Amino acid sequence: VRLEDLTTPALVVEAELLEHNLATMARALPGERLRPHVKAHKCKELALRQAAHGHVGFTCATTVEVAGLVRAGLGDDLLLANEVLDVERLRRLARSRARVTVAVDSDETVAAAAAAGITEVVVDVNVGLPRCGCAPGTAGRVAEAARARGMAVRGVMGYEGHVVGLEDRARRVELVGVSMEMLRQAHANVGGELISAGGTGTYDINPWATEIQAGSYALMDSAYGRLSLPFHQALTVLATVVSVSPSWAVADCGAKALGMDHGNPTIEGAEVWFCSDEHVTFAPRDAVRVGDRIRVIPAHVDPTVAYHERMYVAEGDDVLETWPVDLRGW
Ligand SMILES: Cc1ncc(COP(=O)(O)O)c(C=O)c1O
Repeated sequence: VRLEDLTTPALVVEAELLEHNLATMARALPGERLRPHVKAHKCKELALRQAAHGHVGFTCATTVEVAGLVRAGLGDDLLLANEVLDVERLRRLARSRARVTVAVDSDETVAAAAAAGITEVVVDVNVGLPRCGCAPGTAGRVAEAARARGMAVRGVMGYEGHVVGLEDRARRVELVGVSMEMLRQAHANVGGELISAGGTGTYDINPWATEIQAGSYALMDSAYGRLSLPFHQALTVLATVVSVSPSWAVADCGAKALGMDHGNPTIEGAEVWFCSDEHVTFAPRDAVRVGDRIRVIPAHVDPTVAYHERMYVAEGDDVLETWPVDLRGW
């Protein structure tokens, strides 16, 4: 199969660039120093590649991601880094033969994990991103509640999501220190061997975490592309030019094929004007014709991937493999 045979829009992964990203990260954060977040690609095959680079513990955002990795034989050490109250879904994970650790931040999430038969948890701490996580000062109490119900507390996690995307590196360095001081305080009252934090934008400036939860580094997006990281843009959306007007052109890759929460996608050699449901309107520097194929670079990789059923791994114009995006859904 060749790229020209694909129906568009289609996710295309450059095999060589993916390999570069995985190898670069494995050199920087070998083995247990990285717990790759699979939400960035939702693909078992890609997780198997990460495991081949020595990263065998994974971070997950959903129970579907955890269950999929278990089925792929990647159940050595999975962290569900999210609050889940659905006892039934947690019970299925608890019954699997995998090692599954679940994030908790309240009496309710502790109770759900205990009722499901989960045996290991981490205390999720709010380190500045207004999302999940208890206040650092209450982490010790959440840990006690978990231990009182017979669960082992492996440590803390605290995702500095408000810091990872800042373009100014000095500011990132400063703010990750502030966040990790909060996590350190929480850890002092919680104990355990894990301090899990970090993302692609802080992978090399967070020495306080025992493990980094980066995921976007594997495929990358244009938001992270602005941070001068050593990872290359391995994923693009292949699109077809479907209409050409005197000053702009339109391709079949709109908001239903792209995560748009980080803004418009980019197209090399063109200025993107806007996206509508099924279209991207752009002004190309050099003339394009109806039927031309173009590459669209998403601003945010995670939601982009989640819109697609499969990704095509390519070398030049040849499609080497087709990988299902099989960890989608909830
Ligand atoms: C809990 C958690 N950890 C880590 C990450 C890091 O991911 P990325 O590699 O995109 O920075 C995310 C991303 O949103 C996250 O939600």
